[in-house]
Amino acid sequence: MRVLVSGAAGSIGQVVTVGLTERGHEVVALDRVPAPEGSALPWHTGDCADADFVAAVFDAQSVDGEPLEGVVHLAGHPDEASLPDSIRSHTVTTAALLDAMVEHGVRRFVYAGSNHAVGRTPRTRDTEVTVDHRPRPDTFYGVAKVAAEAVMSLYADRYGIDAVSCRIGSFRSEPSTVRHLSTWLSHDDCVRMVEASLTAPAPGYAVLYGISATPAPGGTSPRAALSATTLRTTRRRSRRASRRASRTTSRRRTSAGRSSPRSSSAPRSTARRRAPRGRPRPAPSRRR
Ligand SMILES: NC(=O)c1ccc[n+]([C@@H]2O[C@H](COP(=O)([O-])OP(=O)(O)OC[C@H]3O[C@@H](n4cnc5c(N)ncnc54)[C@H](O)[C@@H]3O)[C@@H](O)[C@H]2O)c1
Repeated sequence: MRVLVSGAAGSIGQVVTVGLTERGHEVVALDRVPAPEGSALPWHTGDCADADFVAAVFDAQSVDGEPLEGVVHLAGHPDEASLPDSIRSHTVTTAALLDAMVEHGVRRFVYAGSNHAVGRTPRTRDTEVTVDHRPRPDTFYGVAKVAAEAVMSLYADRYGIDAVSCRIGSFRSEPSTVRHLSTWLSHDDCVRMVEASLTAPAPGYAVLYGISATPAPGGTSPRAALSATTLRTTRRRSRRASRRASRTTSRRRTSAGRSSPRSSSAPRSTARRRAPRGRPRPAPSRRR
């Protein structure tokens, strides 16, 4: 499939352009920064909020090369900004690309949405946020992502474009925080997600959550894994504190002939204070 990837120089763009190329797709790159050294991709440098620039890219493709068959829109500022800047970066760019697609008969649009589109959805430990929850953004960034999805929905209804918003969680090579256990999207899964969104038959307007199935110890849920990790850390701290306490006690016995109850119990109470509130007490473990 011949695909225009916007934001090709970005962290997701670099992985996706390589991944799609390796899977046999032909990638045409677009970014406001020039091609990185060594890139062999056909590259268009410019701002995709600029409708004239975007139209020129599509024109050039249909004159000079094979016509495009799909667009993967990854260009955008990936953090919070002012409302006008966020709307320009995510919503105006989306509309410019969709307009050019209509003009050139390109039918498939894949978008880097965000879980910030539903970041204010009230959650309990057991609630799963699905695509049926109404958009409930937590930032101007989230508002602009929701608005981009609304533009996609309009173009799907009005022009029959297939438009898939992938609400990406945390795109990282590996999870590094407890939060990532619920939000992490691996590089390989990201490429698979984009390719599936490009090739699924007739999705119409669709939203999906781009989050990898995070492996959890013992086959439990990511939340349970989170508690297990915390508990193991607590147990390790507790054992260290006990060892320190017994070293202190034996030193005091050696120097003063008897132990101080206060100093020997202090580290243990520190360990207890650190234990997470409301969580079950650690069960005996065979793990070191
Ligand atoms: N990284 C994540 O965890 C994550 C999570 C959810 C959603 N997203 C979304 O994915 C997309 C890519 O994110 P990223 O992490 O790769 O960001 P990034 O900043 O690494 O890359 C974005 C790229 O887009 C280009 N760009 C920005 N605005 C442009 C414009 N108007 N015209 C042309 N090029 C432009 C930049 O030059 C950059 O190369 C963004 O839309 C972001 O909101 C990212």
